[in-house]
Amino acid sequence: MSIESNKDLSGIRAISEIVGITLKLMRNHAQIGMSTKDLDEYGGVLLRQYGAKSAPRLTYNFPGWTCISVNHEFAHGIPSDKKILKEGDLVNIDVSAELNGYWSDNGGSFILGKDINGHSHLVETSRKILLKAIQNIKGGVRIADIGGLIETEAKKCSYNVIKNLTGHGVGKSLHEPPLEIACYYDRFNKARFKKNSVVAIETFISTKGTHAHTLSDGWTLSGKDGTFVAQHEHTIIVGEDVPAILTESNGIWN
Ligand code: CO
Ligand code: CO
Repeated sequence: MSIESNKDLSGIRAISEIVGITLKLMRNHAQIGMSTKDLDEYGGVLLRQYGAKSAPRLTYNFPGWTCISVNHEFAHGIPSDKKILKEGDLVNIDVSAELNGYWSDNGGSFILGKDINGHSHLVETSRKILLKAIQNIKGGVRIADIGGLIETEAKKCSYNVIKNLTGHGVGKSLHEPPLEIACYYDRFNKARFKKNSVVAIETFISTKGTHAHTLSDGWTLSGKDGTFVAQHEHTIIVGEDVPAILTESNGIWN
């Protein structure tokens, strides 16, 4: 969406604050021994308390309030009472929701408890790349150039990026144009960021593979080669200078 009124601005700010705080509280709530279903139910209660509706459920009839992806799952992990969180798990929580017709999206990977599996460098790299990418976005910048920046930064640390998972426009629905804000230099994408537009910027930084495949459950995206992926995502408003980061309340950079 493009911000065209004070109503647009206050509407997108309100739902962004809610998804940010929900993500932050869910991360704090995650514990060793807890099922991803219980963690998701906690997130669902928070969204309801704020009057917001789960975006993946509303848009795609996703079987959960939020997406919780663990270890080799890259994204769209289905919350399950059979998935019990363990020490050192690489966990990604993605929270998107709707309030009064406005939609916002954010996510982040983290390590549960002690980093016994050595994922912290991957997570830190993804966090830093998201920051750098967002700092370089303003009206007129080519979307492909930000993708190029994300991939270049990943390669500097010997990581790859997932090429078929992307950021996207957001605001009046969960996914809207520009539909693909890729994590690599897509030379066919001539589009530029537009001032006052609302977009969700996402990193998908990978230890090995470059593609996500859908598992037989029809939702979960994963690799075929033992790849781990870290993702971080903020919803922003593109400006003339640095963007306004609407989901900063998620605290993923703190
Ligand atoms: Co998301
Ligand atoms: Co998104």
